[in-house]
Amino acid sequence: MNSNNSIARDRLFTHFVNMIQQHVTPWGVRWRMSRRARIVAPPSTELRTRLTELGLDVDRLWWGPMTLHPRKIEYLMREIESQPPRHLLEVGSGSSTPVLAALARRYDFQVVSLENHAGSASYVRESMRQGAERVDLVVTGFRRRRDSDGKPYWWYDIELSRFSQPFDMILIDGPMGSLVGRGGALREIEPVLAPDHRIYIDDANRDHEKKCIAHWQRQFRGLNVELPAECRGIAKLRILHT
Ligand SMILES: C[S@@+](CC[C@H](N)C(=O)[O-])C[C@H]1O[C@@H](n2cnc3c(N)ncnc32)[C@H](O)[C@@H]1O
Repeated sequence: MNSNNSIARDRLFTHFVNMIQQHVTPWGVRWRMSRRARIVAPPSTELRTRLTELGLDVDRLWWGPMTLHPRKIEYLMREIESQPPRHLLEVGSGSSTPVLAALARRYDFQVVSLENHAGSASYVRESMRQGAERVDLVVTGFRRRRDSDGKPYWWYDIELSRFSQPFDMILIDGPMGSLVGRGGALREIEPVLAPDHRIYIDDANRDHEKKCIAHWQRQFRGLNVELPAECRGIAKLRILHT
């Protein structure tokens, strides 16, 4: 395929994904809200207090389907506070981003957050308070690439090598697994990892993410996978001997 055709294909795919996220996903979100309310606890009083202390307007933050559960936010906050990163990469922006921004200000680190959906990016911009200046919110479409086994995958249209500082903390919570997939994430991220990195992937108990992790274990022999008992649903990864 010549480069004009591949650019057209990538634009078409991005347009398709964004159109679904704009017009169809909100229906799914509404439909799942009642079920979610039964299975996902709202932010605890303690978390609300912590977020308020960080300067966030808690009532403006949305904790619905498509965001990290409040208990996972609490876990990630503990992980950051016990060992603040220097350069954090967030794959998939949302309610987590203003929290990361506020923590970035408090603990003196920088955040790059990748997002494809303009609506989600606007929400993030409006929700960030303290630390907004610490976040480089990159809103971009998708580009098709090839994995080491020759199979194609979609990834944000960005070269992570453009950031001069390696990433020592990564949170993979996007793009939408059902529409785009996350299987190419580690291939993209591995070259820009700091030696002392840690990678967190949300929804590690879903089929798609389980397949991604199994694929990465074949791809990266030194991949260490931990399923922290204190936070079900998140996997903590580290590539030993990159
Ligand atoms: C699991 S969400 C990202 C969650 C983010 N880390 C958070 O905690 O809110 C993955 C992707 O879903 C998409 N998304 C999230 N909320 C959406 C909504 N209300 N409508 C359409 N797309 C949405 C965004 O593109 C986002 O990057």
